Amino acid sequence: MASQPAPRPVESAQLGEDDLALWQALTVQLEQGLDRLPDKPEETAEATIRVLWQLAAGEPMSVQRAASWPLPASSVEARERLGRLVRERLAGVPLAHLTQRQTFMDVEMLAGPEALIPRRETELLGGAAVALLRRLAEANADVIVVDACTGSGNLAAVLALSESRAKVYASDLSSEAVTLARRNMAHLGVEKRVTLRVGDLLEPFDTDELRGRVDLLTCNPPYISTGRMAAMPDEIVGHEPALAFDGGPLGIRILQRLISEAPRLLRPGGWLAFEVGLGQGPSVERRLLGSGDYGDVEPVADAAGQTRALLARRRQDP
Ligand SMILES: C[S@@+](CC[C@H](N)C(=O)[O-])C[C@H]1O[C@@H](n2cnc3c(N)ncnc32)[C@H](O)[C@@H]1O
Repeated sequence: MASQPAPRPVESAQLGEDDLALWQALTVQLEQGLDRLPDKPEETAEATIRVLWQLAAGEPMSVQRAASWPLPASSVEARERLGRLVRERLAGVPLAHLTQRQTFMDVEMLAGPEALIPRRETELLGGAAVALLRRLAEANADVIVVDACTGSGNLAAVLALSESRAKVYASDLSSEAVTLARRNMAHLGVEKRVTLRVGDLLEPFDTDELRGRVDLLTCNPPYISTGRMAAMPDEIVGHEPALAFDGGPLGIRILQRLISEAPRLLRPGGWLAFEVGLGQGPSVERRLLGSGDYGDVEPVADAAGQTRALLARRRQDP
């Protein structure tokens, strides 16, 4: 049987022999040793070495940006740094914690252990929320958006970037997450249009200014049951905050509260848009309809047909 050709970067013509040999050795090491998470399909061995190569050369960037960034020749110091970074990655440190970058809906954001690393699956909710916001802003230029459980601020930032007329409020129970979200808003230049607060679920927004006046309320809540948390991969439980995942004994503690507390903030006809865990869609949809507070309820399904987000419109005539 013919042996596999050694992996080479596309820029192999520009790299010296030593760099090429290093690239090949590290790619093989990563291919054999990397425990890849199914919810981060973009983090292949090649994408990992490419992004760590840039980081070792002093250019922190996301996997997506590194894909089109030319590889520089390495210095002795960069090679040492690269070796350390590969060892940390193989030991389970999330790639986004090493690079401090993660792309969400084509926006490169800052990432860190303070908050959940934004996931691809949340782009379903993000896309649906952006489409809703654009529609709402056509009808009312002074649209008000609230993002609860904001974490690193990914949904709030993308919503603010997609509609410059929107006034966005976001919060999290974790003050560390809010600190990262604040850095992200400044990083993306939307800090003047996104107000950040620390507090429990919708409590930070229960003010005269916002009660009954919110057009769009987004949330990616924790929805894993406490019992299932222990079975999660070490790369997640050992490095990302438990508060971001733990949805109580049945996984729906925050979801239930969100459904019952959101109508207090939403204006009549305003929308609640939130993510649900795999398999939770049908029962949460029934709960929304059964509450009597919402008229239209629209599930958002992934490529496999599973509901991963729900959009629910507060009744006009409560
Ligand atoms: C699944 S993470 C989502 C983070 C981010 N929105 C995203 O999409 O990546 C859930 C977030 O909810 C926050 N959280 C958990 N319980 C909360 C509560 N009672 N009130 C407010 N935020 C809470 C966590 O700190 C975490 O940042």
